[in-house]
Amino acid sequence: MMHVWIDPGHDTEKAALLEAALAPLRVHAPNTCAQLLECLDTSNGTSIADLQAITATAMDGGETMASDVLLSLLQSLGAIGALRFGSADRTEAVLTLWPMQPDLLPTMDLAIEETLTYRLSRFATLRREGSRLIIERPLSGYRAAIRTDTVTGAKLIALFTEGTTVAGLAQGRIPTAQRAPICAMLAQAGIIAPQDENGLLPEDKDDTLRQWQPQDLAFHAHSRMGFANDPIGATFSFKDEIYAQPALHPEPDNLGRVPLLAPELNMLAATDISLTQAMERRSSRRPQLRRALTLAELGIFLFRTARIRSHFETDIGSFTSRPYPSGGGAYESEIYITAQNIAGLRPGFYYYAAATHELLLLREWDDDCASLAQDALTAMAMTSAPDAVLTFGSRFQRMQWKYAGMAYATQLKTTGAAYMAFYLAATAMGLSPCGLGLGNAATFARLTGQDPHFEGSIGEFALSGPGDA
Ligand SMILES: Cc1cc2nc3c(=O)[nH]c(=O)nc-3n(C[C@H](O)[C@H](O)[C@H](O)COP(=O)(O)O)c2cc1C
Repeated sequence: MMHVWIDPGHDTEKAALLEAALAPLRVHAPNTCAQLLECLDTSNGTSIADLQAITATAMDGGETMASDVLLSLLQSLGAIGALRFGSADRTEAVLTLWPMQPDLLPTMDLAIEETLTYRLSRFATLRREGSRLIIERPLSGYRAAIRTDTVTGAKLIALFTEGTTVAGLAQGRIPTAQRAPICAMLAQAGIIAPQDENGLLPEDKDDTLRQWQPQDLAFHAHSRMGFANDPIGATFSFKDEIYAQPALHPEPDNLGRVPLLAPELNMLAATDISLTQAMERRSSRRPQLRRALTLAELGIFLFRTARIRSHFETDIGSFTSRPYPSGGGAYESEIYITAQNIAGLRPGFYYYAAATHELLLLREWDDDCASLAQDALTAMAMTSAPDAVLTFGSRFQRMQWKYAGMAYATQLKTTGAAYMAFYLAATAMGLSPCGLGLGNAATFARLTGQDPHFEGSIGEFALSGPGDA
């Protein structure tokens, strides 16, 4: 039998939480509220049957709103993330489920089809959170925890991976009374679903769901508000524990410096095409016949788009300003240039020192440079690689230190904003720009020698000299 209990979180008293939730309901059904308070202020949980018995008796006794009051109470506790449903009481439950969206409650009268075989959704994700094993199907609005002090929970997952009926859970020694509640709770949370004679779930036959990859769905669900109640936004979770990464990227060890041309902005402003012309002429160019990009052009291009305009300190750390916008002003990405065919520049892998506007040679041209250039060539379906590939190398912790949930998604958005700045500047300069959708993070890690958790490639942009397309 499904049970329910209250998990008030760290700093809150259960009784105080219950009082606050019941206060507005007392006027409608005072006796019901008194009994619910007594019943729910236990640590081990209350069976749904007991709660329903309270409301049934109260309604017989004239409190006609008793069941509405119970529903409102559960909804308000669920909305603040304090409600837990168990497949048994708290000490015995193999499965605990809770809603993560306001107004979402599992159905109390659990009906499960005994003849059907249920199977794990391919979208289900499993992870450890503290000492709990969490399983969820992103976007369902629910999350579940599986008991780990015995192996029963692990068996549960194995059985549902293969597909099992309610009765089949006996193989995992799941207690008889918990089998149907477990199935019903997992089904409501979208973690399992009935399979057909071919082992397919409804999601496997749905044209919309078939096209989602599990990792994309999890990323989407967790980087947006609405379907989960995890902390999201500027939470500064590590403020008191870890130093923030500085705005200025430490200068990497290098084999030499190449000063870049810094254009006079007044001159550019006087001679540039208009914004409308740049917007309308902008296109992705993959010219076969072209002249090589020059070092002077690369210098002007980087100055216009990616240089550090200023550096300043604030209460929450150091920041820079650059021509393109950046989520949170973090400017977590630096530009690395794989230069294959730039007139006046030795082929190799360079770091753009945005504060001093110069290139630092990190690697002479080698197999990894060739591999990175080859990946760009493949992505662009060209016969010769672009003159330069600009890679965005992100220092992830610049964003993670401040933001929860949205840290990675925001970096991709910032990269998109930089792409547009790159496109417009290249168009104004008559160069050949092309955004790239894919790059190899392992090749980049080899080229920089950086821990890929610390600094990794998140975007690439091809740049060539003027050409025929
Ligand atoms: C994020 C992003 C990724 C892209 N990836 C590639 C790519 O891998 N290969 C390619 O040839 N073009 C790529 N492009 C260019 C698009 O194909 C191009 O923008 C689109 O077809 C519209 O054409 P237009 O840019 O000429 O207006 C990409 C563009 C963006 C914004």
